[in-house]
Amino acid sequence: MPKNNIPMWRQELKSARKKEGKSPLNRWIQLSTVTRNNEPRIRTVVFRGWEKESSMLIFTDSRSDKIKHLKNNSNAEVLWLFLRSKYQFRFKGKMKELESNTKYWDSLSDKSKATWFWQHPGKEIKNNLQTFKKVPINLNKPTSFVVIEFEIYSVDLLKLVTPIHKRYIWNKENNWQKIEVNP
Ligand SMILES: Cc1cc2nc3c(=O)[nH]c(=O)nc-3n(C[C@H](O)[C@H](O)[C@H](O)COP(=O)(O)O)c2cc1C
Repeated sequence: MPKNNIPMWRQELKSARKKEGKSPLNRWIQLSTVTRNNEPRIRTVVFRGWEKESSMLIFTDSRSDKIKHLKNNSNAEVLWLFLRSKYQFRFKGKMKELESNTKYWDSLSDKSKATWFWQHPGKEIKNNLQTFKKVPINLNKPTSFVVIEFEIYSVDLLKLVTPIHKRYIWNKENNWQKIEVNP
């Protein structure tokens, strides 16, 4: 690990993101969680940056299913695919809710903020007008705004290079030392 404590895989990720340019893949990641019945669930979310050297941030709604999953089982996996470099990153980690999130709320545009005032995610819409008229003018941080910190403990990078694909693993408990494995 270099002196500044940033794991080496962050460098690989940075260059893959750079190659992606303005593509939304630069920010869109897939987050999988586990239900109470041990079933997997996966959805796309926006990568909102780094909290610590190996923990990433995700903004979400406290009423969403993923928060129910987190409360029951904090294990999660994030998948990040880069088309230009043909890199697939898989991050194993644990999720937790950040206690102080006001600075993240303040960083959002009013348009984004309004989405946290919509009705309960996933519930049937019975009256469309009621659903969207309720956004208040005063966009003070609502209790539905949640920032998830996803703390990574293992990284698996597959590079689709020719003639033979390359695959690397880094584990936090191993001080993020890079090991090459069969693809
Ligand atoms: C491109 C894209 C970005 C999204 N970003 C987020 C996000 O940052 N946070 C979020 O909670 N949901 C985001 N969603 C919606 C989720 O994919 C999902 O539908 C929603 O969070 C409900 O998931 P859940 O019921 O499994 O909790 C995004 C969807 C798409 C297609």
